[in-house]
Amino acid sequence: MESWTFKTQIFTESVNHSATGSKSDALERLRLLNGERIFIVCDPFLEGTPALQTVIDLISINNTYTVYSDVVPDPPIDSIVKGVMVLRKEESTVLIVIGGGSAIDMAKGINYFCKTIYQVGVKKFIAIPTTSGTGSEVTSFAVITDTKTGVKYPLLDDSLLPDEAILTTFFVKSAPEKVTAYSGMDVLVHALESLVAKKANHFTDALAEKAIELVVKNLPTCVVDGKNEVARAAMHEASCMAGIAFNQAGLGITHALSHQLGGQFHIPHGLANAMLLPYVIMYNAANSTVAKSKYISIAQKLCLTSETSDESVQLAALVKCAQSLARQVGCSMTMKEFGIDNITFKNSFSILVQQAIADRTYGGNPYEATKEDLTRILTCII
Ligand SMILES: NC(=O)c1ccc[n+]([C@@H]2O[C@H](COP(=O)([O-])OP(=O)(O)OC[C@H]3O[C@@H](n4cnc5c(N)ncnc54)[C@H](O)[C@@H]3O)[C@@H](O)[C@H]2O)c1
Ligand SMILES: [Fe+2]
Repeated sequence: MESWTFKTQIFTESVNHSATGSKSDALERLRLLNGERIFIVCDPFLEGTPALQTVIDLISINNTYTVYSDVVPDPPIDSIVKGVMVLRKEESTVLIVIGGGSAIDMAKGINYFCKTIYQVGVKKFIAIPTTSGTGSEVTSFAVITDTKTGVKYPLLDDSLLPDEAILTTFFVKSAPEKVTAYSGMDVLVHALESLVAKKANHFTDALAEKAIELVVKNLPTCVVDGKNEVARAAMHEASCMAGIAFNQAGLGITHALSHQLGGQFHIPHGLANAMLLPYVIMYNAANSTVAKSKYISIAQKLCLTSETSDESVQLAALVKCAQSLARQVGCSMTMKEFGIDNITFKNSFSILVQQAIADRTYGGNPYEATKEDLTRILTCII
């Protein structure tokens, strides 16, 4: 038997808001906070901006607040510990995080350690993502880094889940082209990996399929016209849907390998995923009949070929769709194009593959890839 509940309450903009470009109505929800001591963890790009001031104006009447913006990518334990100290000192009752996946993971870490070490917790934890990518606002894990040893520690616990996620285009509109493109490709990979992952079910399939459709339709617009509210709202919702899907269904070897490319060569996560995805689709389709039929079904839903095309044509169309989308939004598709020479890359294969097999996402793949299989996939992106 399987069961699943979903703790995070999600607030989205009304459809009219996206169509008219009026001020965020989802954010208006913050006006309901009353008599609270609010701890705001905010991404550094927001510090001192009118956008952050808008949030402060919404909450400052009947509440007190403290802003903490010591957020860096791959949140280090030291910054989390400092955040815990501030939260305790301020005796905060509500935690709001506004930022990308790094800021959200950091806030998750602060909240988690306050609860588990000091037995003090906030009444409410609200996440407001400013990138459309990680889905961290609805996932029960966070990755924190020990900067002294370089070791990354995954925290995995349902108590990490925010109580509320506010999906507003208000902040995400300022995301630079590359952040938009790479995090958007990450959404596509979350959705395509969770679609075929071992623990996928009809619920996660529905979310993953819708997310794929929204990314294919809206990501190029978000990249060329970042202020487009309708496309931004669609991508933001796709990111959240894919987050819910992979939180339940799991991911696969695209992520298992891309985590290593990020660690070893500092390749942006979404970019590494975009490079690997076409080859992982072909690999999974060749080895798992369930994965193959799901890929074909999504190719049909996206109307990539005529319904009467044979399976190999439909599969090839899905691979081509993933490749063209990545190209269209400006992703390099090989390590060489990114600036890593062949020899250096090839010399790292053995360690990359070994670590990929130990990665927590590896086990979710529909077919158990061998070291040789993973090496062949890496060879494709030289
Ligand atoms: N917990 C999870 O479920 C989960 C899943 C995947 C990744 N992650 C983590 O998320 C992090 C990556 O998150 P990310 O891709 O959102 O990137 P990020 O949070 O690291 O942000 C990337 C950069 O973009 C800036 N930025 C963010 N939003 C912006 C905006 N609207 N306008 C202008 N600049 C903006 C940030 O300041 C930062 O410099 C990694 O630390 C990764 O480990 C977590
Ligand atoms: Fe990812």
